[in-house]
Amino acid sequence: MSAEPMSAKPMPFEPVTLPCGQTLKNRIVKAAMEENLGTAQLAPGDGLLRLYRQWSEGGAGLIITGNVMVDKLAMTGPGGLALEEGTDLEPFRRWAAAAKCNDTRAWVQISHPGRQVFKAMGGKALAPSAVALELGKHSKMFPQPKAMEEQEIRDVIQRFVATALQAERSGFDGVQVHAAHGYLISQFLSPHTNRRDDDWGGSIDNRARLLLEVVRGIRAAVGSQFAVAVKLNSADFQRGGFDERDSSAVVVMLNRAGIDLIEISGGNYEAPAMQGRTADQRTLAREAYFLEFAQQLAKVSQVPLMTTGGITSFATAERVLNAGVQLVGIASALAVQPDLPKRWQQDQAFSPSIPTANWKDKTLSGLANMELVKRYMQRLAAGKRTTGSLNPLISLMLGQLRQQKLIRRYRSLYIEPLKAESVRATVENVD
Ligand SMILES: Cc1cc2nc3c(=O)[nH]c(=O)nc-3n(C[C@H](O)[C@H](O)[C@H](O)COP(=O)(O)O)c2cc1C
Repeated sequence: MSAEPMSAKPMPFEPVTLPCGQTLKNRIVKAAMEENLGTAQLAPGDGLLRLYRQWSEGGAGLIITGNVMVDKLAMTGPGGLALEEGTDLEPFRRWAAAAKCNDTRAWVQISHPGRQVFKAMGGKALAPSAVALELGKHSKMFPQPKAMEEQEIRDVIQRFVATALQAERSGFDGVQVHAAHGYLISQFLSPHTNRRDDDWGGSIDNRARLLLEVVRGIRAAVGSQFAVAVKLNSADFQRGGFDERDSSAVVVMLNRAGIDLIEISGGNYEAPAMQGRTADQRTLAREAYFLEFAQQLAKVSQVPLMTTGGITSFATAERVLNAGVQLVGIASALAVQPDLPKRWQQDQAFSPSIPTANWKDKTLSGLANMELVKRYMQRLAAGKRTTGSLNPLISLMLGQLRQQKLIRRYRSLYIEPLKAESVRATVENVD
């Protein structure tokens, strides 16, 4: 008789049940990646269905979609998706079914970009305070944002709730509120971007008010078995920004908000720590960038935790779980190798290699690395294989061309008609 331990299964493949009662068949999660593969109607089409079916068949226990906007006039990028009250749900139903085809749970990441919108897109550029993005010579890509008024904040809260309800009606199992990476809720959390002196700024209680109201509003509106999760920065990794003390305080607040998972990430467009790069001289671990902080949080968090960033090997996935973090988030490696969990069941030494740009212009390197991963997703969506190394510079150039085309499409359908409308209204008023 062999002296095998009781649990011969490696930990990453053990199921887990979340506070809402939802069970995930394993602990490997496909983290959110914006694909920019939406249709002209800002909805999922055949390409996205094909991509998500591959992720589901590839063996992940949970798939979190790329970010889906709560307002079609505030998009993180062209080719994005928007799910609002009144949106036709049929394409979203098909998308949920594709993502869930292999007994996989699927959640929609819901998001508002705030000031992180490209100027070329047009639309709203809202922020807690009128603080523009500072990206050196690339700053001009982003507009000067407008400080939000109370009624605009209320509108955004309602939009998050409406989008979560629409996700539930479409057959998804949950939503993840994007409160990380410098998007609107993250802007409210950070003292660097939130300079308000009303109830929405100042103390961490006030800066977290938008997140808490969004989460509570969603929890009250959706069914008890529908998962509600939050993606949160451990820190912004820039001076004067949201720091680890703030982040711990927010986790304690979220302990009482009835949520199912907190995903720990970090950074924003100015300091892209989620790509392993900081702006305050702090260095991140070479793998599982935010694990040390997540491990500390695991001691105080009653909500299950997940950490994402720099995880490509089975050994690292096991290290995350051994540290007391319940789920392992993987993004880029699953774009390159969509069946990575399945591969690991056969060969735990397998680790996909992801080509990266490391140029002097760090902003351009970051953009190229994003475009490269998006190109892998585009290939999967088109039914092509992802074997072979893609070139970051070519990916950046192709990405820019594709983006320009998609921006023109978005502007002609959603921005120009608004302008024509407002000119007509002005003329009618003058008449
Ligand atoms: C192409 C691309 C798109 C991304 N889009 C999103 C997104 O929509 N929402 C989000 O929270 N994170 C997004 N991320 C960040 C990932 O979820 C993840 O936090 C980050 O890539 C680090 O994980 P990784 O090292 O496994 O890629 C994106 C990353 C990439 C590469």
